[in-house]
Amino acid sequence: MSESEYILVTGGAGYIGSHTVIELVDNGYKPIIVDNLSNSSYDAVSRIEFIVDQHFPFFRIDLRDSSALTKIFEKYNISSVIHFAALKAVGESTKIPIDYYDNNINGTINLVKVMQKFNVKTIVFSSSATVYGDVTRFGDDRYIPIPEECPMDPTNPYGKTKYMIEQILKDVSNSDAGSDLKVAILRYFNPIGAHPSGLLGENPLGIPNNLLPYLAQVAIGKREKLSIFGNDYASHDGTPIRDYIHVIDLAKGHIAALNYLHKIGNSGLYREWNLGTGKGSTVFDVYLSFCKAVGRELPYEVVARRSGDVLDLTAKPDRANEELQWKAELGIDEACKDLWKWTTENPFGFQIDNYQWKEFSDDLNDRLHTFKIDNFKVGIINYGATIQNIQIGDQLLVCGFDNGSDYKSSSNPYFGANIGRFANRIKHGKFTLNGKKYQLSQNEGDKNCLHSGFNGFDKQNWYGPIVKFNDDKFKVDFKLIDKDGNDGFPGDLETILHYIIGYKFIEIEYESKLLNGESTIVNLTNHSYFNISNGDSIDDTEFELGTDQYLKVDDELIPTGEIASIGSAKFTLTSDKSFDNCFIVNENDDRIDTRSNELKQLVKASHKDSKITLIVSSTDPAFQLYSGDGINTDGFKKRSGFCVEPSRFLNAINQPNWSKQVILKKDETYGGKIKYEFK
Ligand code: NAD
Ligand code: UD1
Repeated sequence: MSESEYILVTGGAGYIGSHTVIELVDNGYKPIIVDNLSNSSYDAVSRIEFIVDQHFPFFRIDLRDSSALTKIFEKYNISSVIHFAALKAVGESTKIPIDYYDNNINGTINLVKVMQKFNVKTIVFSSSATVYGDVTRFGDDRYIPIPEECPMDPTNPYGKTKYMIEQILKDVSNSDAGSDLKVAILRYFNPIGAHPSGLLGENPLGIPNNLLPYLAQVAIGKREKLSIFGNDYASHDGTPIRDYIHVIDLAKGHIAALNYLHKIGNSGLYREWNLGTGKGSTVFDVYLSFCKAVGRELPYEVVARRSGDVLDLTAKPDRANEELQWKAELGIDEACKDLWKWTTENPFGFQIDNYQWKEFSDDLNDRLHTFKIDNFKVGIINYGATIQNIQIGDQLLVCGFDNGSDYKSSSNPYFGANIGRFANRIKHGKFTLNGKKYQLSQNEGDKNCLHSGFNGFDKQNWYGPIVKFNDDKFKVDFKLIDKDGNDGFPGDLETILHYIIGYKFIEIEYESKLLNGESTIVNLTNHSYFNISNGDSIDDTEFELGTDQYLKVDDELIPTGEIASIGSAKFTLTSDKSFDNCFIVNENDDRIDTRSNELKQLVKASHKDSKITLIVSSTDPAFQLYSGDGINTDGFKKRSGFCVEPSRFLNAINQPNWSKQVILKKDETYGGKIKYEFK
């Protein structure tokens, strides 16, 4: 495959599709996802990006929309298609068969037409073991375990759509025009489990029909007990036998099929492969395995058989084992463990009460995420992992824009942004590390490097967020990989930013690691502009600082090395007083990871016109206090907000006795914490 070729994944936001996209990326393929999100959420896509550390194209379209689909094929060089998109609930399909035929069959016909128009010759199709129907109908065991040659006889509309699509693809491949088409029909047995990271799994919507999703809901108390549908089958414990396959193994089967099709050159092929483990497990086997993962016995009751259920559906996976060189490696114990992790960490899947997002720019990579706890509301955008809004009742407490483009304007004074890779100034953008001289972008009047130059952490879309809610707090994680050489900084740097949002407080934790190279420099902070005055100006805000010590600076705003006192740490910010100073909290802390320190109060601010007090604390040894005199942008004037930027010492890298605070070596972790509290 060439660099510019893409794999189109239809239904890639869904359960099996999302796991397969990760495998595609891990195997060097470039995915494009098309999904109408009818049974999934964009959050799955942003979690995939978080896991694989890259953005990729996503389109929310329905496969039956020809012109939208055509546009994607026009724009991207698509070499192959993996076709997951379908409606898949057996019971539902008996109630609304036309919807199933329309969605699954017309969606596929449309897809194949567009593929033909653009000469795309490779398709991997999600079929199902359901096409075999009841294999006990032959009266003997000749098709148990089930081989691909087993005659098909689907018993419900869903299964029939799979059967019909197989026939359609076969007919196309038998036609003259389709003779060089390569079709892999993958018949899945019972997919279970979740991604071992706990970040992806089956999104639990409504009452589940399948065994494990139901059992998971019993385990978290959403359902009272499991009904076991019959224990009078001819198995070792009387319950039916199925071939449960871990979704990760299943995802890998798609890569194996794709590689196989790519290997056979230009000749056409139509072939079916069973994807199963070859090992049958009973309902009780699965029940016991899941109870083991959960660590306790779960309530159940044996009830009558479910109509349509059969004794044994176990795959004969030999064909896939031999031809695709693929074999399922994980068992039901691993699947149950991973499912339990996914369930406990995401009990409501991607639906989290009082958390919402909407598109903030014309790009889904930049969304506005809103978190609400009673009358406390926080808005965060992907661009810069920026705090866009903090609000108590109707009172706004930080400066922020209501649209994405203002954040990208050159007059944006870093509103709410997370500053990295190096906050504040570095003299003339120069430093030496391990004997090597580095020159960073000089973006402050062609002299100093300020807040990392032209393309810092504040000007990139962060991956995520991963949002979870427990103990009355939102946990919101973003991730950024800052590339080696960006603005002159050495080494690829991974930063994970954890926001914790509770009632009237926000905590930020930074965690950075070098992905390659020997060392780099790091100094991270948040640049929110607070205004607790109830008005447009911060004048008359009363301050109590945690220290009166600050670094004296020269006329280029670089420290002279001398530490001095401002006199009193308690003052009112009158209009004749300005600050852009680095205050020193701890002169002797030279560790790169300060997270084990107690949070120390840096600033307490209040205003006579409001009833709100802000307390900023941090684990870092210094902070910059800035009275916002340089603000001059749409809707905001000079001194509409003040910043408290906890950080390392200003220009620390160029002072031998401070430089250890900011030098991050291979295998070490940079860390720091900030907390904003409102009283
Ligand atoms: P899923 O519902 O999680 O994923 C299917 C995705 O396709 C969803 O994200 C949905 O929004 C999307 N989609 C549906 N119709 C669409 C349309 N017209 N246009 C665009 N997007 C559309 O289901 P899954 O479990 O991931 O299943 C994936 C495929 O595997 C399906 O074809 C299913 O029939 C097949 N399959 C699943 C199982 C199983 O047990 N999960 C078993 C055998 C086969
Ligand atoms: C069903 C679908 C199949 C689909 C598969 C995976 C049917 C006939 N088949 O298979 O097309 O590919 O899901 O999505 O619906 N069980 C209980 N209690 C429950 C749920 C299930 O005892 O609450 C038992 C069932 O009787 C069965 C086993 O667990 O023996 C597995 O059931 P399920 O997860 O629904 O999958 P299948 O029925 O095998």
